[in-house]
Amino acid sequence: MNASPLPAHVLGGRCTACGRLVEPTPERYLCPDHSERPSETPLPTLDIAYDYERIAARTNPTRIAADPDPSIGRYEALLPIADRRSLPPLAVGGTPLLPAPRLAARLGLRRVWVKDDGRNPTASLKDRASAVVTARAREWGLDTVATASTGNAAASLAGQVAAWGGGRCVIFVPATAPPAKMAQLLVYGATVLAVEGTYDQAFDLCTAACARFGWYNRNTGLNPFTTEGKKTVVYEIVEALAQQEGLAPGRWLAPDVILVPVGDGSIIGGVHKGLSDALALGWIDHMPRLMGVQAVGSNALTQAWRAGATDRVAAVPATTLADSIAVDWPRDARKALAAVRETGGAFIEVTDEAILEAMTRLARSTGVFAEPAAAAATAGLVAAVAQGLIAADERVVVLSTGNGLKDIAAARRSAGDPLRVAATLEAIEGLEELGGGWRS
Ligand SMILES: Cc1ncc(COP(=O)(O)O)c(C=O)c1O
Ligand SMILES: [Zn+2]
Repeated sequence: MNASPLPAHVLGGRCTACGRLVEPTPERYLCPDHSERPSETPLPTLDIAYDYERIAARTNPTRIAADPDPSIGRYEALLPIADRRSLPPLAVGGTPLLPAPRLAARLGLRRVWVKDDGRNPTASLKDRASAVVTARAREWGLDTVATASTGNAAASLAGQVAAWGGGRCVIFVPATAPPAKMAQLLVYGATVLAVEGTYDQAFDLCTAACARFGWYNRNTGLNPFTTEGKKTVVYEIVEALAQQEGLAPGRWLAPDVILVPVGDGSIIGGVHKGLSDALALGWIDHMPRLMGVQAVGSNALTQAWRAGATDRVAAVPATTLADSIAVDWPRDARKALAAVRETGGAFIEVTDEAILEAMTRLARSTGVFAEPAAAAATAGLVAAVAQGLIAADERVVVLSTGNGLKDIAAARRSAGDPLRVAATLEAIEGLEELGGGWRS
């Protein structure tokens, strides 16, 4: 296929294993020197490299502040696309950064925010990656995009492809994916293959199918443009934080700590990438510490980080109710380990019980209803404070990556049952649970 070249501000994809600059194409996702999958060596994913002088000539925070487009299109000059009009017309991004004073106070902190990315069009942060990958597919003139997913990446891709119309979307999900995520896929009209196996098996099957049938592969991490979409979340964070902290329009402000739930490691890699872009351009003045939060039962990266590894990640059979971060062998391990190591951050493990507790804690202190994987970031905040990793006056952002309606069964486990009553006033009169209220 003779795909049109990437836009001029994109230099290519730098191999995270050997540093070689290669050109990503619809058929090439990895450095040709490292395309094999050795068992414990992380995938040699590509990191998209930019010509920052060219970007600086085109845009800056003042111009971005004046852009009336609230979606990720406002960061067009920092994305690997030629034109924001290639992005699907679904208005991805522009999610709120919510001050969380009550969540903060209970932990002895003063300045905590929640970035509620469950408010994206298909209700997870993955819309950011799928929008950019779909835009790349459009600019390359491709007609079929496929992905493996624990559910959210698939729902987001199905939604983005549906928004454009005319394209085909093929999905490989574990047959055990939560029903709400499965319903999204089917409603959007994707071809849904419910794989009798794990996410990791679905991932390998999707990769093999794309190679065989010539489809464009959105698989997280393997496709380097997923990171580039996900990085937009942190541009929004630093833009909104500056505004809320009273800085002049056109200034960006980095927090001190960002907590990110981690499965394949692509979101935390994207957060690191967005901050690295902003630092390279001189638009922020420091790099926050990035804290990756994993479930105890899906902790391959935490184990690798503890062992001081940079290029060895052993698979761990994943067992956690937080399905979106249930990953045996993380595909974006190199970027995730670099994100934590290079920023002086940490990996934090949380139990499923702590995740369930965090779902209600977050919802009741901020109004944000998060799915288990997303609530893991709040559980990670609780654990990080207990471990003395965060000082009281630091600016802390908790990244809530997916909406709680994605997994109702887990939500009910977290919140319990309603009071069952007869349909009479007498039955509810004097109930202890009816006390309280704003004026009491
Ligand atoms: C809601 C949610 N949170 C966190 C993650 C983890 O992201 P990553 O696999 O990029 O580490 C995912 C990935 O599916 C997700 O859907
Ligand atoms: Zn290489």
